[in-house]
Amino acid sequence: MKFSCQGERPCARVLAKAMCGIIGYVGRHRAKDILMDGLKRLEYRGYDSAGIALLEGSELRIVRAVGQLEALIRKAAPLELAGTVGIGHTRWATHGGVVEENAHPHRSSDGKIALVHNGVIENFATIREFLLSRGYCFASETDSEVLANLIAYHYGRGGGSGEKNHFGESVRRALLHVQGTYGIAVLCEDRPGELVGARNSSPLILGIGDGEHFLASDAAGFAARTRDVVFLRDGELVWASGEEFLLTNLCQERVEAQRQELDWDLTAGERGGYPHFMVKEILEQPQALENAMRGRFSADGSTAHFGGLAMTPQELRQVERIVLCACGTAHCACLVGEYLIEGLARIPVEVEYASEFRYRNAPMDRHTLVLVVSQSGETLDTLEAMREARRKGFRVLAITNGVGSSIAREADGGIYQHAGPEIGVASTKAFTSQLCLLALFALYLGRLRDLSFDEGVSIVEVLRAVPGQVREILLQGEAIRRIAERHGRCRDMLFLGRQVLFPIALEGALKLKEVSYVHAEGYAAAEMKHGPIALVTPECPSFFLACDGATLPKTISNMHEIHARGGPIIAVLSQGSAVPREIVDDPIWIPRAHGVALPILAAIPIQLFAYHMGVLRGGDVDKPRNLAKSVTVE
Ligand code: AGP
Repeated sequence: MKFSCQGERPCARVLAKAMCGIIGYVGRHRAKDILMDGLKRLEYRGYDSAGIALLEGSELRIVRAVGQLEALIRKAAPLELAGTVGIGHTRWATHGGVVEENAHPHRSSDGKIALVHNGVIENFATIREFLLSRGYCFASETDSEVLANLIAYHYGRGGGSGEKNHFGESVRRALLHVQGTYGIAVLCEDRPGELVGARNSSPLILGIGDGEHFLASDAAGFAARTRDVVFLRDGELVWASGEEFLLTNLCQERVEAQRQELDWDLTAGERGGYPHFMVKEILEQPQALENAMRGRFSADGSTAHFGGLAMTPQELRQVERIVLCACGTAHCACLVGEYLIEGLARIPVEVEYASEFRYRNAPMDRHTLVLVVSQSGETLDTLEAMREARRKGFRVLAITNGVGSSIAREADGGIYQHAGPEIGVASTKAFTSQLCLLALFALYLGRLRDLSFDEGVSIVEVLRAVPGQVREILLQGEAIRRIAERHGRCRDMLFLGRQVLFPIALEGALKLKEVSYVHAEGYAAAEMKHGPIALVTPECPSFFLACDGATLPKTISNMHEIHARGGPIIAVLSQGSAVPREIVDDPIWIPRAHGVALPILAAIPIQLFAYHMGVLRGGDVDKPRNLAKSVTVE
């Protein structure tokens, strides 16, 4: 799909926040199986608890369990649940602790309505007060239960009206009073063949099957059953039975559904024979890099080109400043992008945390281009930063792996990563694919300015060689596992690199923290002597990214400083490196490479190291504690 521009809908109330995975089904098949399968594919969005609600004739049955989906599957296994309409949820806690009462689906106190919700109802306290005064009561601490009751309240006011869409209308009326974000799927005990969903700032996708409809916060939830989809937009509501659906906005106006065909390789989202998604995705990087580059080099092999930028070369030549905006690992990718764009295109670049940028009111002149980077395309901080920039009239481009995601749809233009689904919570292949695309973008901008034809050709050659070089590095997986084994008991680590490898040091520390829970800090190598060196002991290893480059002699001095203090050194080195072997305890070799390729190559060992540390220390590397893949809360 091409990136497209989408204006705000007149009646959409654009608010903030959201999280979790939701799924809904109405059709002829056993909903329980479809919901469980969907939840498995959505579990990356949260795994504090999970639950399903099914309509068994006119009886509403709810099963919920704390912990990963496995717990729910075990609990539901002995139950006879044959209903063909249902909703399901996998939770990342926002309001209320991780206990069964707070797990979704939530049921209204009159028993009529069951709801799953992804988001945050900001005015839930006021609504709760109102409902308490009307005799409703609450079993949980969640904001979502308040919404279930508010829908029940409006449903009750209709006096059980027999009109066809009375249920959908009750949901609409309730939402008119809600401030906050939501992707919801709702069931009503009196309406056994109906399902209602709505969206505001939390994704919701309708799947259209043969005599059946699906709802999910990510099309992966139902893509095994249909590829025919409608991405709901903010302020839209859908009512569905098995046979038909109706899309409206909150102003009760009918909306023309824009149906799209998903073009997905479903097996890409399976773990296959691999022990974890994380290692599968690390090993998929050569392919992901090839996909990122496919069709993106000019015929003369001297530059890159992109189909969806929606900016002419003339417009891009007017750009005098670029702001790169992202969170987490994507932010580390942007820091590399800063070096590459400034180096190749000589355009000043600033890198911002999306969460800070949004509230900072940074002065930006009219020749500033904003580029956001997000694997999921749903990270709320990034989405809101992008909206803020667009509100101020800036052109915003996006690099994302999330086809049809909120960021892809709202950006003025952009570049798809085509890395395939990334399920492991720790980002790996999406990161190197972002590095690759930022290199291509820098090359393109450079060639629009002063970068010569010959320089362009040599950079294209460098980039084309990267997937093969990554394959070579991946062969060292076992050697890196042994290094991890030697350091598996450490409590702290430093990651150190300079220039274009400094962001890789930051990413190395982030990756290690995420999957192994070892405390790690990333620093520009020379900064180490201004404070962090105090941490160095024989129990605190330093992981150097000490590849060939102009600053290598300085980095060698830093390595000596740590070695002299008894700190163990793991180092990523260029083949044939001049780094004295006696100061490196554990070397990892990568091919010599140009600065545009080096960050990608150096990222592979840090990912493998973090992965093996995580496995050795017994953590759940695919679903580390407290994290979720797509962070859709502020
Ligand atoms: C990556 O390992 C992290 N789990 C996290 O930092 C992630 O990169 C961040 O939340 C941004 O996500 P996005 O790329 O989907 O926007």
